[in-house]
Amino acid sequence: MTQMPLVEALLSRRRDHSFHVPGHKNGALLPAGTEGIFETVMQIDKTEITGLDDLHDATGVIREAEILLSRLYKSRNSRFLIGGSTSGILAAVLSSVSRGETVLVQRNCHQSVFHALELAGAEAVLIEPDKEARTGAALGIPAGALETALAKVPEAVAVMITNPSYEGYAQQLHAHAALCQKYGALFIVDEAHGAHFLPGAEHPFFESAVEQGADLVIQSAHKMLPALTMGAWIHICSSRVDESALNRMLQMIQSSSPSYPIMASLDAARAFLADVKEWDKIAAAAHAFCRQAGAPLLPVQLGQWRLDPLKAVFAASDQTSTFAMERRLEAANAFAELRTPELLVLTLPLHAGLIQRMIEKLPVLSEGPLDASVFQHAEPEIRLRRPALLQEEMGKLVVESCPIYEASGKISAADLIPYPPGVPLLIRGEQITDQHIEKLLQLREAGIRIKGDEEHFRVFTTEKRKG
Ligand SMILES: Cc1ncc(COP(=O)(O)O)c(C=O)c1O
Repeated sequence: MTQMPLVEALLSRRRDHSFHVPGHKNGALLPAGTEGIFETVMQIDKTEITGLDDLHDATGVIREAEILLSRLYKSRNSRFLIGGSTSGILAAVLSSVSRGETVLVQRNCHQSVFHALELAGAEAVLIEPDKEARTGAALGIPAGALETALAKVPEAVAVMITNPSYEGYAQQLHAHAALCQKYGALFIVDEAHGAHFLPGAEHPFFESAVEQGADLVIQSAHKMLPALTMGAWIHICSSRVDESALNRMLQMIQSSSPSYPIMASLDAARAFLADVKEWDKIAAAAHAFCRQAGAPLLPVQLGQWRLDPLKAVFAASDQTSTFAMERRLEAANAFAELRTPELLVLTLPLHAGLIQRMIEKLPVLSEGPLDASVFQHAEPEIRLRRPALLQEEMGKLVVESCPIYEASGKISAADLIPYPPGVPLLIRGEQITDQHIEKLLQLREAGIRIKGDEEHFRVFTTEKRKG
């Protein structure tokens, strides 16, 4: 069996007498009605006792597990995260960007990127990604567009991009990395959905950005690997990263009582991934799954972007809406990763046999495929945007409520975040347009959950706050 130093250390401690936190005492003390649910995991839910190391100052079994992780991805160093990619993104940005500095940010980044910039007091210049025209599925930023952005915003100290997109499209990033080096910007890649991307991976799977010249890469192990929710890791890939600043931020952002079950699941997920051999079989099973659904599928290749085989991405057609497809799925007691008015995204496991079994459970979702030519690669009309207000200015202005139909042209004081995918529709400091309002109404109509959505918009006035 592949080595799992942290899992092994925890197993050897399962029957110890606990005179320490947590209060369940290895699962001996349980709230009534929960017997049989938590005991197994509570046996390894420990704290920093002798032999179990300390995530925030790892020198023992946690460090050994992180070294094995780093070897697998060929990083300079890798660290476990117990607060999801969210904690890695916050720490990456806060440790590399100072107040008032500028970061080039892919517009469809996850909310945590915008939160990180707000906490850092840093300014975002937004780069709009290429999309699939019919469904709006995000692709990414071509290297040429990044070069233009870097030339126009030479003060950018970092570039933050998402690859793959939530919908599963990814591209090669060697050229992007070389450009960031040329312009002296740190290249941070949110690879949250790509923990199964390994160095040297061959078609149809992808190579991780770790091997393509990124400085920092963050992956949610829990999304695509068999790890517990919130289990993630960050790869430090170059000497340009200030590791001591990063460690300091990780300590500030993450709990001082890191979850051992989450860390153990990271150790085990790394071992699992190291043992995956039948990549072609997995891709073939995923392909069969997609065809079985009978619904219009987004193309596996659009321009330089390829779709992750483990993302089954179905489009609405004239015959069937995504809502109807979701209803058919849920009637079979099956649940999707994401539904938008245009797309239904199902995430498949990294295991051919399991995908085969899922095929048996999958109902027909739609009346039939669409002609692939209806899907087109589209470039944005406007590629680069600066938010209408700087972070510093926003803190000084009075905020008021504004009826939605009067909000166009005003500046949003709130983030509006459809969830999933957690990509903001509107960012604090961004000017509200008719398109934002139209999209918001469409999402509401389609029953999509939107964080920050209130009856009225919250907008900045020109009036200064007192004090
Ligand atoms: C692209 C992207 N980045 C980052 C995150 C945050 O990941 P986590 O849930 O592991 O904190 C998500 C979560 O959905 C995401 O989709």
